[in-house]
Amino acid sequence: MLIFEKKMKLLITGATGLVGIQLVKKAISQGMMIHYLTTQASKIQSIEGAKGFHWDPSRMIIDIDCFSGVDVIIHLAGASISKRWTNRYKKIILSSRIDTTRLLINGLNLLKGNHCVEQIVSASAIGIYPSDFKNSVSETFDVSKDSFMQNVVMNWEEEVDVFETMNIKITKLRIGLVLARNGGVVATLKIPTFFCLGAAFGSGNQGQSWIHMSDVVGIILFCIKKQLIGNFNTVAPNPVSQSIFISALAKALKRPHIFPPIPKYFTKMILGDMSSLVLDSHWVSSKKILGKGYKFQFDKINNALKEVLK
Ligand SMILES: NC(=O)c1ccc[n+]([C@@H]2O[C@H](COP(=O)([O-])OP(=O)(O)OC[C@H]3O[C@@H](n4cnc5c(N)ncnc54)[C@H](OP(=O)(O)O)[C@@H]3O)[C@@H](O)[C@H]2O)c1
Repeated sequence: MLIFEKKMKLLITGATGLVGIQLVKKAISQGMMIHYLTTQASKIQSIEGAKGFHWDPSRMIIDIDCFSGVDVIIHLAGASISKRWTNRYKKIILSSRIDTTRLLINGLNLLKGNHCVEQIVSASAIGIYPSDFKNSVSETFDVSKDSFMQNVVMNWEEEVDVFETMNIKITKLRIGLVLARNGGVVATLKIPTFFCLGAAFGSGNQGQSWIHMSDVVGIILFCIKKQLIGNFNTVAPNPVSQSIFISALAKALKRPHIFPPIPKYFTKMILGDMSSLVLDSHWVSSKKILGKGYKFQFDKINNALKEVLK
C-alpha cells in the first residue's frame, strides 16, 4: 500500500464514471481528501466522503472553489466512446475532452497563481497509436492524427500540455481496455459469451491491451506518490489476441467458446467507423511504468477476468 506523508487533496473530474468511482474509494481509504467536478447537479452530493462541485464545460462555467487546497488534479472526464459514432456524437467525444481540459486551465487562470496545484494526472488512451497487428508500441512512438481516434487523443493530450505554462507537472496515462466489474468491455461481452455467443471480430488476431481496474487506480496513485511526469502506457504486461481474450472470458464464465469470428466486412457494415474499436490491433508495452517500480496486481488475463467476474 502506498503511504502518503501529507494529507493530500485531489480534484477529480469524471469521478462519477467507471474509473472515477473506484479511484475515489481507494483514495479516501488512503486518507486523501477529495473534491470532484460533475456536469450533473444531481450528482454533487452523490459521493460519500467527497465534496462535489458543478461545472458546465459546454458553457465554460466552473465553480472555482473546487481548486481550494487541491494538490493534484486527476482528469478523467470525457463522453463515452461506446455510443454510436454519428457525426454529431463524434464532436461530443472530442469536445468533452478538449472543453473540460480548457475549462480547468481557465479556472486556474482566474485564480492568478493563487492555488497549490502541483500536478495533473490526465487520462489518455492507447487509441493514440495506429493499429498494428505485429509490433509492440511504446511511449516513444511518433504518433500522428491519421484516424478519428488518434485525432481525438492527440488533441486531448496537446490540450493537457498547456498546464506546463503554469508550471504544473503533467502525467498522461494512455489507458488500455479496462476490465471492471460494473461496466466497460466485460459488461458488454459477458452476456453473449455466457450464452455461448461470444465471438472475436475479423481475424481475431488483433492485440488487446487490457488492464484490470485495480491497476488503473493503482497506477494513478503511484504516479502521484512518485510524482512521475510524462506519458505512461497504462496496460498490463501481457496483452493477448482478441480470440484469446474471448476464450479467456468464456473460460472465466465456465462456458465453451464455440462461436466463429464475425467477418470484418460485416462488422464494418454494422458499426461503420466505430468498427475500429473492435478491429484495430494494439500490442502496447508497459515496460516504462514497470521500470519505475510499479507492481501489477493482475498481469495475466485469466486471473484478471476471474477476479472481475467473481
Ligand atoms: N474505460 C476504459 O476502458 C478506458 C480506456 C481508455 C481510456 N479511458 C479514458 O479514461 C477516462 C475515464 O474512463 P471511464 O470509463 O471511467 O469513463 P466513464 O465511465 O464514461 O465516465 C466519464 C465521466 O465523464 C463525465 N462526462 C461524460 N460526458 C461528458 C461530457 N460530455 N462533458 C463533460 N464530462 C462528461 C461524466 O461525469 P459527470 O456525469 O459527473 O459529469 C462521466 O462520469 C475517460 O476519459 C476515458 O476516455 C477509458
